[in-house]
Formats: sequence, C-alpha cells, structure tokens
Amino acid sequence: MSFLCLGSRYLAIFLICASFGYTSAELETKVNPPEDFEIIDPGYLGFLYLRWQPPVSLENFKQCTVEYELQFRSIDGGKWKTVITKNLYYKYGFDLNKGIEAKVHTVLPKQCTNGSEIRSSWSEATYWMPEQGNVDTKIQDIDCVYYNWQNLFCSWKPGKGIRSDANYYLFYWYDGLNHALQCTDYIKNNGKNVGCRFPQLESPDYKDFYVCVNGSSNSMPIRSSYFVLQLQNLVKPIPPDYLDIDVSNVLEVNLQWNIPRGPIPAKCFIYEVELTEDDTPWITTTFDNELYVIRTSNESQELCFSVRSRVNIYCADDGIWSEWSDEECWRSDTWEETLFFFVIPFILVAFSILMTTCLLLFKQKYLLKMIFRKEKEAFPHRTSLC
Ligand SMILES: *[C@@H]1O[C@H](CO)[C@@H](O)[C@H](O)[C@H]1NC(C)=O
Ligand SMILES: *[C@@H]1O[C@H](CO)[C@@H](O)[C@H](O)[C@H]1NC(C)=O
Ligand SMILES: *[C@@H]1O[C@H](CO)[C@@H](O)[C@H](O)[C@H]1NC(C)=O
Repeated sequence: MSFLCLGSRYLAIFLICASFGYTSAELETKVNPPEDFEIIDPGYLGFLYLRWQPPVSLENFKQCTVEYELQFRSIDGGKWKTVITKNLYYKYGFDLNKGIEAKVHTVLPKQCTNGSEIRSSWSEATYWMPEQGNVDTKIQDIDCVYYNWQNLFCSWKPGKGIRSDANYYLFYWYDGLNHALQCTDYIKNNGKNVGCRFPQLESPDYKDFYVCVNGSSNSMPIRSSYFVLQLQNLVKPIPPDYLDIDVSNVLEVNLQWNIPRGPIPAKCFIYEVELTEDDTPWITTTFDNELYVIRTSNESQELCFSVRSRVNIYCADDGIWSEWSDEECWRSDTWEETLFFFVIPFILVAFSILMTTCLLLFKQKYLLKMIFRKEKEAFPHRTSLC
C-alpha cells in the first residue's frame, strides 16, 4: 500500500516536472519555420532553385544571425543531402527523371539562446516534371563522346512502340548559357533524330552539363529523359602519331611518339603501349610520350609497338581510350642479313634466269628470221618463175 502511495507521489512529481520543463522550454526557445518555401525550375533541365523567406516573429533574436538547415533528395528514396546556410536560397542540380522533395527549418545557434541550439519545425516542398507517356517511349542507350576535348556527339536509340510520326529533340544547358538550347545539327536515321553533333561549346567542362531528350508525336505522348554529364569525363583523344623506335643499345629500346594534337594539355595524357617482341606481346602504361624498355632477349629479331591515349586521373575522373596508332617496327641486323644474303641473291638469280631465257628466245627468233631471209634471198624470183 505504502509502496503504491510512494509510487504515485513520484509519478505526480515527475509529471509536474516534465510538464513544467516542457512549457518553460517552449516559452523560452520557440522559433518559427521559414515561410513560403518553394522549388523553382528556371528551365535549366535540372538546375533548380530552392527558395524561402525568413520565419515570422524573429524580433526576439534580432541580435543574432539565424541559420537554415536544408535537406533534399530524390523522391525514389535516395539519401538526404544536408546543407546549412545563412542565405534565403540554394541552387542545386537535380535528376529530373525523378521527383524531388526538400525541407528546411530555422536554426538558432547556441550563442543566441543561452543554451542549446534551437530548431523550428520543417517547411516542406516537392517538385516533379509532369510525367507524360509510357516509360518505353523514352530514348534508349544514350552515348555521348567528347572527341579530343573539342567536339561533342551524343547518339541514342528511339524508344519502343513509338509511331512513325514520333521524333526526338535534344536540349542542353550549362552554367554560362542564358537559356537551354536545342541541338542544331541532328544525326538522322530514316528521318528520325538519333543523335546530335553539338556546335563548338565555350568552357563547358568541369561543371554539370544538363541534357534533355524529349519527343513529340501526334498519336501518343513521349516520355522525356534527363541526363547530367561532366564533359571532361567523356573525352576520347585522337591516337598518337610519329612513332619512333630506337635500338642503339643491345638490350635497351627507346620508344617515342608525338603527343596528340589538339587542346588537351600534354600533362593530361596517359598512354598504353603494346610492344610485340618476336610475336610475344606485352602491354604497359606511361604518362610520358616515351618509354625505355629492356628486351627480354638480345636475340629478338623484330620489335613492333603501337600506342593509344586517354585522359589521365589528374585531369578527369574518367575517359575513353583513343583508337590504336599505326604500328611501328624495328628489325634486327640478322634480319637485314637474311635479307642481304638470301633474298637479294635470290632476286638476282631469278633475274638472271629471266634475262637468259629472254636472250635465248630472242636469239632463236633472230635465227629463224635469218634463215627465212636467206631462203628469200636464195629464191627471190620463185613466185614469178612459177
Ligand atoms: C540570455 O541571457 C541574458 C543574460 O544572461 C539575457 O539578458 C538574455 O535575454 C538571454 N537570452 C535568451 C534568448 O534567453
Ligand atoms: C522539350 O524540352 C524543351 C526544353 O525544356 C521545351 O522547350 C520543349 O517544348 C519540349 N518539347 C516537347 C515536345 O516536349
Ligand atoms: C646475348 O646474350 C648472351 C648471354 O645472355 C651473350 O652470350 C651474347 O654475347 C649476347 N649477344 C650479343 C649480340 O650481345
């Protein structure tokens, strides 16, 4: 019995304390969430503005700077990304194939509250492009290559189940353009746009490059596709040329080639060298446009190599290998000796046999002619006589 009394007394104290604590905390530290939170699409194909206004009744905290904690993610359930800012906006590149959800709250730093940091409740907003058409109507397998860090090409396959009147259009935007631009030089197949040759672009690298391929058809809606590229990661250089192979030393070989021409700085290349020593190939990579190699045998007869180039990790996170260069070969003296002592005499012998045969034939013809003429001279009036 006494235990029960004691228990209920403690409970009452606890409840009083808890409710007092709660109300006092609420009284001292309440702050409102930001107002008018919205996600704005300026038409940059994925680059969105998140914007809000300061919370109402901030007067109590005039003397300190209010901060905002912003969180956002794709609606399909990606990880929340968190940003803390004193501004009233934030700009970020999103994947518009998916919806976006975002939330923001006011944060009063410790120095403003004499205690711990205070946060408001969340203001929330969502955004998604109107999803029109079946998923199958989207383009497929887009492939973009930035040739020699100069010429951008993208190609794709049309979606499935589209009608003959459907066609696709490519739009792009990156920081530096006033608005999204449409492709001006489409690659066509059976009258349908299946790719784009981009014009010369002004500093489009090391930033998000937004692409949208949408479509139109009178008979059905076509689903749009969005892509965010980093052009420096799509570079395919031209192959190195002017290969040179120097075997002045017995065992050591020096391979050299020209840095591919164009805007890619020399320090941005990595090369893959394939060297074939008497039919045994091996591959190695180097950052320089030359390579010293040790021959596996000083008796090898033939050394051949070719090179291909790619942008290295110091200039881009990714890249595409160039085509292989033409092959350059070196052949040993013994190979030349073989040429000298076997092939050349063979040719000489063959040539002399040919000459002798010709001479003999000629002589035979000449002899026949002589005989015939002599015959003619011996009987010059044979026809008249008869
Ligand atoms: C913080 O404490 C000071 C005095 O210690 C007081 O004047 C001020 O009103 C307090 N501020 C808040 C937000 O409680
Ligand atoms: C494709 O996207 C561009 C850029 O957003 C837009 O201007 C255009 O109207 C769209 N076309 C179609 C057919 O949806
Ligand atoms: C090649 O190497 C062998 C031994 O490794 C040596 O005996 C020979 O003289 C070398 N030949 C030449 C041409 O240097």
